[in-house]
Amino acid sequence: MRKFLLAGLLGALVLACTHEPLFNPLDYQLETRLKELSPDGSLEFFILPDSEDYASIPQGVGNRLTAEKVALGKMLFYETGLAQDAKYEAGKGTYSCSTCHIPNAGFMPGRIQGIADGGVGFGLNGESRSSMNGYDETELDVQGARALSMLNVAYVTNTTWSGKFGARFANEGTEYAWTAEDTERNHMGMDGLETQNIEGTIIHRMRISRGWLDTLGYLSMFDAAFPDFPESERYNRLTASLALSAYLRTLLSNEAPFQLWLKGSQDAMSEQEKSGALLFFGKAGCYRCHKGAALNAVEFHALGVRDLYQTGGFNTGPDDIRNFGRGGFTGREEDMRKFKVPGIYNMADSPFYFHGASKHTLLAVVEYFNKGIPENPDVPASQISPFFRPLNLSDEEVLSLTEFLKTGLRDPNLQRYVPSSVLSGNCFPNNDPLSRSHLGCE
Ligand code: HEC
Ligand code: HEC
Repeated sequence: MRKFLLAGLLGALVLACTHEPLFNPLDYQLETRLKELSPDGSLEFFILPDSEDYASIPQGVGNRLTAEKVALGKMLFYETGLAQDAKYEAGKGTYSCSTCHIPNAGFMPGRIQGIADGGVGFGLNGESRSSMNGYDETELDVQGARALSMLNVAYVTNTTWSGKFGARFANEGTEYAWTAEDTERNHMGMDGLETQNIEGTIIHRMRISRGWLDTLGYLSMFDAAFPDFPESERYNRLTASLALSAYLRTLLSNEAPFQLWLKGSQDAMSEQEKSGALLFFGKAGCYRCHKGAALNAVEFHALGVRDLYQTGGFNTGPDDIRNFGRGGFTGREEDMRKFKVPGIYNMADSPFYFHGASKHTLLAVVEYFNKGIPENPDVPASQISPFFRPLNLSDEEVLSLTEFLKTGLRDPNLQRYVPSSVLSGNCFPNNDPLSRSHLGCE
């Protein structure tokens, strides 16, 4: 009788274990590993704040986050009405920041290169944009690198692939390389985003003047956002940049399955994604460069990938300064061909990877890291990161890691960051006739 009871008890325990595991070993291993990597031993280190939790979002010096600034930036980023400094009449009013940073494309261009002024068409996700009749290649607003994502840029202290904007952090000691404009802006005490977005409105041919903002209907939003600025200094590229930067700082991929898992939902990720995460933060070594809540770093490394002129970009070539990454900015031999470590949330939304858009699937990216063989003969072997070497992952491991990047790190609801309309009433991200028809604006 006692024996029978014992057997029954054991059986019940086994049943309990198979049907309702007390803990999943993968969850346990991943949690342990992340705590090891976290400087304060907590999972919180990897958690992105809520977009409304302004106190927890990294802020720019002199640019406190406020709801009014965020609301204004959320309009200006999509406002095709600002596109008034176009090269030709046909380009006027046709593009915006979001032409090259499309929300549904993970705030990337949805193709190898963004084309703003001089571009036409949208397709489903930016992929059908091409050059407009009447624009010479050299007249297009294009750059010699794939556009970076806007997700989690609150964690980017020095912007662009070369990290050239911003006076502090990585750029301390680079004063010799600043242009007169950089010096003026950096001395205004601003950070990378705030500095860059002044330039952004100029190079992307946007008209920002009191008169034009009035025509579009934005003066009262500037008044609400910048009550401390004297009226004579309230409607210009600086305030527009402060508002754009404030908005960009709220673009956080905090609903990605990995983020939900970190916040306690064990079911948010599949077993395969969890295995992939363990590889990312362990054997595959990705964590060595992709760090912190944004899985990025303002550090510069060479992976030996191809440049945009080698993959078909407009108006770029072997001498393009952007091919040289950090070295193109600092001029230092040791920085040549090294690029900033980008954030990697929502990469699945725009399948054109690395600064030269040389890979078109996440599987190809993971295989590139796994093989550890540089593809661009122009990059001297001495520059290649010692961490870029064969990883010896099995086929199954490659697939798990890919799945983690593809779905574990993908926030499925970026539409929450997009306004329903802009004050001009124009179509966006683009407003040329072909894009209007692609976007259903007619
Ligand atoms: C023609 C396409 C295009 C347009 C339009 C455009 N961008 Fe970009 N953006 C890029 C490219 C390309 C990069 C990377 C440039 C580099 O590294 O040299 C970039 C980088 C950035 C970065 C740096 C991100 C980081 O992690 O370092 C920010 C911020 C940014 N853009 C904001 C904006 C804003 C704000 C606007 C509108 C005023 C805008 N962009 C319009 C193509 C574009
Ligand atoms: C030595 C530092 C380093 C390591 C280790 C590393 N990365 Fe990266 N990663 C970078 C840099 C730098 C770039 C941008 C390189 C370029 O475009 O020239 C990048 C780019 C990427 C991109 C493309 C991002 C984009 O915007 O196109 C993905 C995806 C990525 N890494 C995933 C991984 C994975 C997965 C691993 C682990 C197998 C890994 N990385 C390991 C530094 C690193």
